[in-house]
Amino acid sequence: MYNKKVLDTYANAKNTGEIENADGVGTVGNASCGDIMQISLKIEDDRIVDAKFKTFGCAAAIASSETATEMIKGKTLDEALQIKNADVVEVLEGLPPQKIHCSVLAEEAIAAAIKDYRDKQGK
Ligand code: FES
Repeated sequence: MYNKKVLDTYANAKNTGEIENADGVGTVGNASCGDIMQISLKIEDDRIVDAKFKTFGCAAAIASSETATEMIKGKTLDEALQIKNADVVEVLEGLPPQKIHCSVLAEEAIAAAIKDYRDKQGK
């Protein structure tokens, strides 16, 4: 069902876990499958310097988490917010149609983590 890029990304994910004393944490879930994704961020001067994920979900969700956390490292918060699930799917060289919603979790988790950070900053 999955292409090689997705399987490799899933098998070699290195951003798993949680950042200690993270500046922002976002947790989102998909009601239809019950899967959950959490992304934690280290932020310095409005830039994401580290990102990790904990995903209780399918291989597509884990591959999407890994890809999304790689994509946002080094980006400013506004740049990271521009990354959409379609961009994640493109880097993964495609997902099966019934698995596209898994990549949406990554987009939502990034947005939730940045919102958490901004809320804490009072912005
Ligand atoms: Fe639930 Fe993929 S099936 S995130």
